Amino acid sequence: MSADSVNLPTRDEKATAEEEEAFHFARVVNSFLAYKKDALKQVAVCEKRFKDLTQRHQNHLPNHLEILERKRTSIEFNNVICQMIVRTCGNAFQNKEFETIQKGTPATKPRPMDLDKVRTTLKQIVRDWSPEGKHERETCYKPIIDEILSRMPPSKNAKKMSVLVPGCGLGRLAWEIARLGYRCEGNEFSFFMLFTSDFVLNRTANPSNGDFHRFQMYPWVTQKCNVKSWESVLAPVKFPDVNPAGLPPDSEFSMAAGDFVECYETPCSWNCVATCYFIDTAHNIISYIERIFDILTPGGLWVNFGPLLYHFSDMPDEPSVEFSYEEILGIAKNIGFEIVKDVRDLPSTYIGNSASMLQYTYQCALLVAVKPVV
Ligand SMILES: C[S@@+](CC[C@H](N)C(=O)[O-])C[C@H]1O[C@@H](n2cnc3c(N)ncnc32)[C@H](O)[C@@H]1O
Repeated sequence: MSADSVNLPTRDEKATAEEEEAFHFARVVNSFLAYKKDALKQVAVCEKRFKDLTQRHQNHLPNHLEILERKRTSIEFNNVICQMIVRTCGNAFQNKEFETIQKGTPATKPRPMDLDKVRTTLKQIVRDWSPEGKHERETCYKPIIDEILSRMPPSKNAKKMSVLVPGCGLGRLAWEIARLGYRCEGNEFSFFMLFTSDFVLNRTANPSNGDFHRFQMYPWVTQKCNVKSWESVLAPVKFPDVNPAGLPPDSEFSMAAGDFVECYETPCSWNCVATCYFIDTAHNIISYIERIFDILTPGGLWVNFGPLLYHFSDMPDEPSVEFSYEEILGIAKNIGFEIVKDVRDLPSTYIGNSASMLQYTYQCALLVAVKPVV
């Protein structure tokens, strides 16, 4: 709730909002905990359908049941990761022990879309924290980092230049920017992302040898369509590819939970705002652009990379306005930005499985805008 909002909640409304937040929290926890049952159920359906085929048809596929068995084993690995992700989320985000999180009411039951988000979150780990995600990171994060480095080199003084990364997902872009010598904060409001980034960033260290644990998972195991070979969906992915605790000792890196527009209201407080695949998550993109402008210091930079896949477009109960990229540039200029770079048609993928027979490629835009010094 923003400070200048006129409808401040009454005490009862606040209690309800807190209750709803607690239900939502528990539903996300339950979704991770339900991953295994849900994924194994899908394999069981595949097995039944296969066994319902005539023996003559089954004979064409002598290894198919073995593939399904390997899928079950891979799901067990993923389940271990899911369990670890939620193990300490209670005390990290709610000041509650895991065991005391309310998990048993209908409002906390995972919906199909929640289970889908767990599967997507595993793929997000590939994007941000695995060797397999390197190409995707180079196409999306590197252009942003290059612009920041060339236009706002890290300061040599004690006071570092500050960079905010709203909607930072699992935090790799923000982490990389901090590693380069900026004070960087990643902001995120999804519990799926927050629990998982907390796990990767804070719980992969191995204090016994000062190194870090490399975990193994099978992010593509639930894919059934557009599969060239089952080996590709049964391919393990190891993460993290770097030691998340290995930032230089003087680094300033933080992650902040909450809605971007509600969390960041202080004018002129950031030297740079970096948005990657984020601005199209708004109900009203103009409010994002206005807020980015307000919180930048005079001379501050907004660097944006991504498409315009408006997240709330065509959702019946969600307001959404959709503008073209050219309209976005016009809005940014009217708000006061000076556009200093506008490159389009930069191909990039988002949590894509490069081995799949279906490939989505976005033709992204890279925008650099400056808040003028008046
Ligand atoms: C498409 S993802 C991009 C994540 C990351 N930037 C990347 O490139 O991998 C958009 C992210 O923005 C987050 N998000 C959406 N609306 C937000 C808001 N109002 N405040 C903070 N985060 C938000 C979502 O939870 C999601 O993780």
